[in-house]
Order: sequence, then C-alpha cells, then structure tokens
Amino acid sequence: MRILGTLAELAAFRALAPSPIVLVPTMGALHEGHAALIAAARHQAGQNGTVLVSIFVNPTQFAPQEDLADYPRPFEADLSLCAAHQVDAVFTPSVPEMYPPGNSTFVEETRLSRGLCGARRPGHFRGVCTVVAKLFLLTRPDAAIFGEKDFQQLAIIRRMTRDLFPGLEIIGHPTVREADGLAISSRNRYLAPEERRRATIFSAALRAAAEEASPHQVVAKATALITQGTGSAPEYVEVVDAETLESLETLDSAAVLAAAVKIGETRLIDNVRLAARHAKI
Ligand code: PAF
Repeated sequence: MRILGTLAELAAFRALAPSPIVLVPTMGALHEGHAALIAAARHQAGQNGTVLVSIFVNPTQFAPQEDLADYPRPFEADLSLCAAHQVDAVFTPSVPEMYPPGNSTFVEETRLSRGLCGARRPGHFRGVCTVVAKLFLLTRPDAAIFGEKDFQQLAIIRRMTRDLFPGLEIIGHPTVREADGLAISSRNRYLAPEERRRATIFSAALRAAAEEASPHQVVAKATALITQGTGSAPEYVEVVDAETLESLETLDSAAVLAAAVKIGETRLIDNVRLAARHAKI
C-alpha cells in the first residue's frame, strides 16, 4: 500500500494507476462504516483496478466553534485498517497542500445545501464541495463512494458531480449500524456511556416514527420520541424528497426522514427512507 503525502506523489501514482480508479474520501478516524465503503470500492474496482482512500480533516467544513482541533486523528490505526482492506494507496495531504496560503477559491452548491444541516452549519457544505471537487480533480476517479448516513451530503455531491464532473459515478453505500441500531460515526467516540444509551433512542425513534402515515405525523412522532427519550429537543426533524430535499406534505414520492440532535456536546444525524411503503398509501 502506498502512502501519498503530496500532490506530486499523488500525480505520479495516478499516472500509472490501473483503471477503474475508485475513490473513498474520508476524514480518517476510520471505523466499520468506512471499512464497508472500502470493501464496496474494491468490489467496484475489481482485483485489477485501484482503490484510493483519502484521509484529510478538511478545515473549511468546520465552523470556528466546531471540533476541528479535537477531531480524532488515529493515523496509524487508519493505515492499518486500509492495509487490511486491500487499499492500493492512501492520499493524506497536509492543509497547505490542499489549500495553498491565500486560497480564495471555493465550490458551492446553492440549492440542496440550504436546508437541514446546511441551515444550521453555515458554510459546511461549501467546505465539503470544495474539498471533494479538489479530490476529484486531483485523483480523476471513475467512481467515488460515500455513506448514506450523511444523506444531505450525498445528495449535494451527486448534484455537484452531475453539474461539474459528468461521467463520474457516485455510489451511495447503506448506513452501517451498531447492533442496537445507532449509525456508526467517527464522532460516536465522544459519547459518554450514558450519552451512548440516549443516542440509541435517537435512531430507534426515527425507525418508529417512519411507520406513521403522513409527513406531519412522522415529524410529530419523531420529535416527541427524540425529546422524551434523549432529553434533548432535536435540531431538526424533516421529511424531504430524497433527491431535491424539498420538504414534503404528502408521501407520494421517494421520501427521507432526516433528523439531527445534540446529545451532550456531540451532534448526531441520522435518516430513514420512507419510500416504497408510503408511496402506495
Ligand atoms: O463525510 C466525510 O467524511 C467528509 O465530509 C468528506 C466527504 C470526506 C469531505 O471532507
């Protein structure tokens, strides 16, 4: 497995890398969810293609009060996970490699980024789009894989790719969950044991509310269950169209129930698809 720390090293590797090239962009602190993305990338690339993982804690997607400085960086463990999962190369650039001093150019998706997490984390998706676009330009992959847990991020990246990188395939991978249903996330390690118990209730509340018949009922039930069960009012609970992320009044198109809640200092997001079952009502 090659470890590429600079743009020059990446370019040299890329020039000789066998196609198809499948990229798994990450911020490190790799866990079972990432392992599933990497396994899907290997499947997509085949034994003769190239699986490239990027590890870069991207400063432009963190607001000043967020956890950039504290974000976990278990670099050696990340490399071991990659090596154990047949990764061909890990691209791990420094901040000045990705953002040269005085960087003043950004990529912004302007519609799907407005609601949900975008409304609560101004500038977050501009940072995500900028770094992902740079990774696409530098690695020129045939396909890239992202987790469905970050459902809004995936929708925005699909839109950006359609608009700016036609031909590049974006593959969404189903959310990987703990045995009790909690979506696996690098930030779960911040949860104290009591907070971890309440976090399970968050995921269970979304699943229970998804059985309701209308968006209004789904949102009301999820909000009540989350508030009672976790002791925290959710940041948002919304039923939106799976592609446009527009808020829905009826369940006659593919829909997603998406929510965010802060448990202690840890912000959790999760989502449940409502599509087929409710589309028939
Ligand atoms: O989902 C993440 O880990 C990040 O937002 C991403 C896509 C790697 C961009 O920094």
